[in-house]
Amino acid sequence: MANEWMIETEGLTRTFKKVTAVNNLNLQIRRGEIFGLVGPDGAGKTTTIRLLAAIMDPTGGTAVVASYDTAAQPEPIKQRIGYMAQRFNLYRDLSVWENLNFFADVFAMTGAARQEQIERLLQFARLTEFRDRRAAHLSGGMQKKLALACTLIHTPDIIYLDEPTTGVDPVSRREFWDILTDLHLQGITLIVSTPYMDEAERCSRVGLMYQGELVVCDTPEAIKAMTEGDLFAI
Ligand SMILES: Nc1ncnc2c1ncn2[C@@H]1O[C@H](COP(=O)(O)OP(=O)(O)O)[C@@H](O)[C@H]1O
Ligand SMILES: [Mg+2]
Repeated sequence: MANEWMIETEGLTRTFKKVTAVNNLNLQIRRGEIFGLVGPDGAGKTTTIRLLAAIMDPTGGTAVVASYDTAAQPEPIKQRIGYMAQRFNLYRDLSVWENLNFFADVFAMTGAARQEQIERLLQFARLTEFRDRRAAHLSGGMQKKLALACTLIHTPDIIYLDEPTTGVDPVSRREFWDILTDLHLQGITLIVSTPYMDEAERCSRVGLMYQGELVVCDTPEAIKAMTEGDLFAI
């Protein structure tokens, strides 16, 4: 039987000299989940995502993504995932359309499928009417949507988003989450980190991280009941 877990970690640990950024993480994420990694600055969210994206090797434990070990078989993982880093680099002097074309080049996309995908993503990210605008002249929320569209260019089925809504206004945050929900409905597995507890409600399950550890991992409803409101007391 195929493994039901898209992501499975056992004792996943990453230390930097004296700091243990991720400490003994045991995490299982199902195919098609929209999983929220919630925690304050320094909790270990970015390090966790980089470990799961096979960009960084663990110093202890293992992470298996889509049945591949991140340390031993990073290449097939990289082809299947999309990773939107916290400071995703768009080309500020290029237009929306040119940025998408740049990422299509990176993934060596050609022919009709390439143009179709770019048009589809422009529409999906609600950026069609801004296609000729330079990235530098987009609002913060629109830049995040463009970054997401670029992340989706090679149709990954696992997507990591590191604090995609930090510093974005509330209306744009909501719209961004509506787009993430659309991806979730398409069956894509999403891992989204955020410092905002209110965004946990949009997830199928939530892991709360604090000082490198996974403190709680459950449905948003269960977490809400557990904490009765004030989660940032931890
Ligand atoms: N490359 C690195 N070198 C040294 N320390 C790091 C490095 N990356 C992260 N850390 C440390 O690991 C801890 C967790 O960081 P990070 O994963 O970035 O957390 P978050 O994304 O939740 O803010 C922090 O104390 C941070 O200073
Ligand atoms: Mg971070």
